[in-house]
Amino acid sequence: MIVRTRKQPRRTTLSSSYDLLIRGGTLIDGTGAPPRPADVAVRAGRVAHVGDPGGARASEVIDATGLVITPGLIDLHSHADFTVLAAPTAEACLYQGVTTLVTGNCGLSPFPGPAGSPWPDLARFAARVDAGRPAVNLAPLVGHGALRAAVLGQERRAPTPGELGRMRGLLATAAEQGAFGLSTGLIYAPGSFAAADEIEALAAEAAGRGLLYATHMRDEGDHLIEAVEEALAAARASGVRLQISHLKAMGPANHGKVARALALIDAAAAQGLDVACDVYPYTASSTMLTSRLPGWAMDGGDDALLARLADPATRERVLAGLRPAVGRTFLPEGVIIADLPPGPYAGRVGDSIADIARDGGVEPAEAVLAVLAAHRARVLIVNHAMAERDVEAVLRHPSGAVASDGWVLRAPGDGHPHPRGFGTFARVLGPYARDRGVVSPAEAVRKMTSLPAARLALADRGTVAPGQVADLAVFDPGRTTDRATYDDPWRYAAGARLVLVAGEPVLRDGAPTGVRPGRTLRGPSARRGPEG
Ligand code: CU
Ligand code: ZN
Repeated sequence: MIVRTRKQPRRTTLSSSYDLLIRGGTLIDGTGAPPRPADVAVRAGRVAHVGDPGGARASEVIDATGLVITPGLIDLHSHADFTVLAAPTAEACLYQGVTTLVTGNCGLSPFPGPAGSPWPDLARFAARVDAGRPAVNLAPLVGHGALRAAVLGQERRAPTPGELGRMRGLLATAAEQGAFGLSTGLIYAPGSFAAADEIEALAAEAAGRGLLYATHMRDEGDHLIEAVEEALAAARASGVRLQISHLKAMGPANHGKVARALALIDAAAAQGLDVACDVYPYTASSTMLTSRLPGWAMDGGDDALLARLADPATRERVLAGLRPAVGRTFLPEGVIIADLPPGPYAGRVGDSIADIARDGGVEPAEAVLAVLAAHRARVLIVNHAMAERDVEAVLRHPSGAVASDGWVLRAPGDGHPHPRGFGTFARVLGPYARDRGVVSPAEAVRKMTSLPAARLALADRGTVAPGQVADLAVFDPGRTTDRATYDDPWRYAAGARLVLVAGEPVLRDGAPTGVRPGRTLRGPSARRGPEG
């Protein structure tokens, strides 16, 4: 065991006593500054001292010789709002040193739910999350898809001025209740039904309240550049701080376009826009299979799609809309069934659309519709369609944060999920930074700590300095690596030895402690409310 602990008697002189002293380690403080030897002392949930502690005593001393101390990692892009109530222990985070998850991404948030939903607003959802005592913190965004569904349902049309006003009102309420930002998912129904003016109006509301606007753009393939331009135009028109989520280029014909996207971001930043992006270190994405269909096919939602697929003439139109993508941005060999509800294809989890098409003697587009129709349209895929050089380009870019886009919080479970939920951060720290030098270790840590904290306007997390909240991680740098693979995803990462959330050890000697001090953090518009 590399981390050793020992108890010392508590001294009566409070000024020189700490709750915890992490001694002998190398500090990577999150700012991007080079690693340096430094002890870190914690008192009352905050970092109390960084550097030589002199003669001060601590209730507990942890020997971090040979280990690296970092801020607790902040996952700027998570969907754990849909899983944390069932898995508040969040081991997949703890094994990577992740202490805060930004939820509500890609336009999806549990609130404001439709009439009758248990989550009419953020306050109700946050109260339920906090009552479940998560091990890690949540920093919620509110999803545009949820705002739109609450007002317009799944209808494919523009909102009336009154409806847009109601969406703005719901966004304002979420901000007052502690949301950190607004997100869109412009490839997902019903977000995909929104035109640019609707997004700009909501972005203006977000800007006025100091919120971040995070977007899963309208296109990540043939029209990636136009989609980046749309996102930048929304920021320009509204003044909002913009986060381009999981920047990528899908399909061989589009590989390399990420460089152009990054150049557009740089040019916009040079003109004064506050814009950044993020990336997960994999060349596959994971999403709902329905997101590959032409947008009109999703008008009215999943049930309306299923009705279209049941009508031969309409089904033919959906097929015709899907076919041009096949072999271009939709590679049948690379689209793997990750999870689906019970039904005839339940045994095909882990298989590709190409496999299913071959076995059924049909073209891939037909196989897609057959699987959707047989499983209530609720089919999750892993989609191998990106290029490693694009992943690395975003990772190297100074504004590119590391973010998982995951939702699986503990192993084992059902289906065949993307490994990113288990491995994103350890994979960047180990294989990408340490082994291949794609970025330096200090830069890798910055992209997981102070950079996401700055995007969230989260001032007291993301760096290790006196006064900061003591969300901390201690890694064995030589052993830090992801272990989850596409073939065997249910594997926790290796290397984290100690993780603190607000000074409380949630992982110790490399194992979860069962302590769950996390909670829902409150964003910039709610800071004056009870507790920030
Ligand atoms: Cu996402
Ligand atoms: Zn997304």
